[in-house]
Formats: sequence, structure tokens, C-alpha cells
Amino acid sequence: MEGPRCLEQGELGSLETLVDTVFMPGKTGVMRHAFPALFNEDNRANLLVYSEEGRIVSHVGRTERWASLGGCTVRVGCVGAVATYEEYRGSSLASRLLERTCRDADASGVDFLMISGDRGLYRRAGAVSVGLDYRLVLNRSEAERLRSADYQVQPYEAADLPVWMEAYERKCAHFIRPLEDWNWALETRLCQLVASEFLSVTLKGAVCGYTVSHVSNRDGACVVAEYAGDDAAIVSVLGLLMERHNTQTVRMHVQGTQTALIGMLAKAGVLMEPVHANGTLLVLDFPRFGDRLRPWIASQVGMASAAALSVREEEDRIYFEMGHERMDFASRADATEFVFGNHQRGRGHGVFARAFPAPSLWYGLNYV
Ligand SMILES: CC(C)(COP(=O)(O)OP(=O)(O)OC[C@H]1O[C@@H](n2cnc3c(N)ncnc32)[C@H](O)[C@@H]1OP(=O)(O)O)[C@@H](O)C(=O)NCCC(=O)NCCS
Repeated sequence: MEGPRCLEQGELGSLETLVDTVFMPGKTGVMRHAFPALFNEDNRANLLVYSEEGRIVSHVGRTERWASLGGCTVRVGCVGAVATYEEYRGSSLASRLLERTCRDADASGVDFLMISGDRGLYRRAGAVSVGLDYRLVLNRSEAERLRSADYQVQPYEAADLPVWMEAYERKCAHFIRPLEDWNWALETRLCQLVASEFLSVTLKGAVCGYTVSHVSNRDGACVVAEYAGDDAAIVSVLGLLMERHNTQTVRMHVQGTQTALIGMLAKAGVLMEPVHANGTLLVLDFPRFGDRLRPWIASQVGMASAAALSVREEEDRIYFEMGHERMDFASRADATEFVFGNHQRGRGHGVFARAFPAPSLWYGLNYV
């Protein structure tokens, strides 16, 4: 067995066979088509594998992207397509690839990993569910109540891209997408492995936002996997989306930082279910990440407190200090839940309760 190591030139085909066999049995080329950001020659250094006699048998892959959390630029590793052939499972191959992923990503300055799954493999490494987010579910009559005739939808056209980009970048927590990410999504018209409808939202004919939606083959609901634009515009077109997709329900993830949208829905009497962002998250270097978040912390508790923030990691314990206030955590997992928020955990105390949680990301088109 050879590994853990990076994928070498000429091995992409063998890796594709592994991930297609595991995730799309009987089909070929599907995973590479669905995840071009992950499976391309330029990303080989981020595709970690084990091989036996030249055949790739286990894989943990990632993309690395910048993101903005409340204006702070952070480096994110999105981990996905984690797979081991059945006959090689249970020998800790994936666990060792994940360990190496953490080391490599840390060395290249990644602040945290977003992992598109939740299982022992990831939890043992310290990954947890985070994000004080919500799930909006509406039926047709509820969506009808929120509808305004001023807003319409129309198929995406190339000239709309600058508005899509600008609308997406207005989110408090968003990926800083290279143009390639937009182009790949717009070429494949896939989001989270599913064929999706890419629609521009218009206000009196002018593009002001967008939705990317599909019909869930699990429960037949219309799922809005990504959206951006004025809150009123998005809420107004949910009924139109249901009509287009001929569904009775629409479902949409609302990031906890979308306070105006949450307020608007609450005012309209719409109840939302508290949920976490999907997958799990693993912070790699707490002191470095604390430093990156300093501008956000200053925006929440003022410059003096933010300047006083010190984050230390000693023998697996994590200590946060701001002035004379202090919080400590028994594990990285506990500290991560605190930093990004978890519906089942407390909010901390004093200045920490005001400084955190930090904004958390939603994958949308960046899902791997
Ligand atoms: C998930 C998958 C990649 C694991 O590959 P693997 O090489 O067998 O992984 P490992 O041997 O490192 O770990 C497998 C299991 O062994 C056990 N294990 C391994 N090392 C362990 C350890 N040190 N302590 C305790 N349990 C351990 C765990 O039960 C683990 O499964 P879990 O994640 O359900 O807890 C493989 O089962 C697979 O390809 N599944 C189908 C695709 C899939 O579901 N991918 C993940 C998407 S989220």
C-alpha cells in the first residue's frame, strides 16, 4: 500500500473510477463532471490518496478557497468525495488521509475545514456541527401571502453575472469565489450534485438577485440551494419557484447572520426550524483563526476588547481571554462549537457572548 500521498499526474482516471464506483455505482464520469473544482489537474496537491499496485483505493479531497466572515478574510478547506473501496474499508485509510489533510491544510494556512458529512471519521478528528441557522419551509398559501407582483424570475443570461456576484458578495458570510467557480456552476448547471434551475430575480424587469433550485427526489419539495439579493425579492419569488417546479412545498436554508430576512419572516408570522449549516467543521489553528477574526470581534465588542483577545492552545485545551474575562474548552470540538455557535450549546458569558458566534458559511455552489 502506498500513501498517504498527493495524487500524481496521470492518476485522475483511477481516482474517478474510485469515486464513481462508491458514489455513483454503474455510472462513469459523473463525479468529475459534478465537482470540477475538486477533480482537476491543478488541484492534485489537495487530493490525498492511498494506492495499491497503481490503483487508487482510498481518497480524501479538498478545495481551498478564501471566504469572508463578517469582513474577515479566512482560508477554508472544503473536504468531500471521501471514499474507500469496500474491500479496503475499516483499516483506517480514510482516517489517516484525513489526518494528513489536516496537516497539509494547516501548513498552507487554511483556518478550518468544512466537511460535507457527519460521521465518526470526522468527529474523531474534532469536527462538529455549527451555525445558528434556520430552515424555512413554506407551503403554497404561505408563499402566496409573501408574494409581490413586482418581482419575477427569468432564466439566467450571461449579462446577469455581475449582479449575481455582487448580490452573493453582500452576504455577511460568503466564499470569495474565483471566476472559475461561477463558470463551472453555470456550465454544468449542477448544485450539490443535482441538476438545478438557475434563475435571475427581477424587480420591474431589472435583475436584482437570483435563486438556484431543484426538486428533491426524496420528498418532492422545491429546494433553494443558493440564493442572493434583496430579502424582499427572494421571499417574494418562492411561490413562483413552486409554480415552476410544480411542487407544494419550498425549502430554503437561512444563515443566522441574515438578520433582516429572519426579522421579515418573523414579522410575517413564519416559523423557522433552528438547524446547523450542513456537514461538520474543524478548526485547524485556533490562535491564527482568532487573529483572523479580530476585525469582526471589534465590530461586535469594540476595538479595545478585540485588541485584547488572546487565544492559546495548550495540550488540547483551548483558552480564550479578553481583558480579565476568560473561557476555556476541553477540546477543539467544544471550542469550535462555541466560536461558530451550536443550537444545543450555551452562548458563553460576558464579552464572549457578545463577540461570538462568528458568522458561518453555507456551501451553496461551493459544495464538494
Ligand atoms: C466512509 C469511508 C470513506 C471510510 O473509509 P475507511 O477507509 O474504511 O475509513 P476508516 O477505516 O478510517 O474508518 C472506518 C470506520 O472504522 C472505524 N474506525 C477507524 N479508525 C478508528 C479509530 N481510531 N477509533 C475508532 N473507530 C475507528 C470507525 O467506525 C469508522 O467509521 P465511522 O466513520 O462510521 O465512525 C468508507 O466507508 C466509504 O467509502 N463509504 C462510502 C462513501 C461515504 O459514505 N463517504 C463519506 C461521505 S460523508
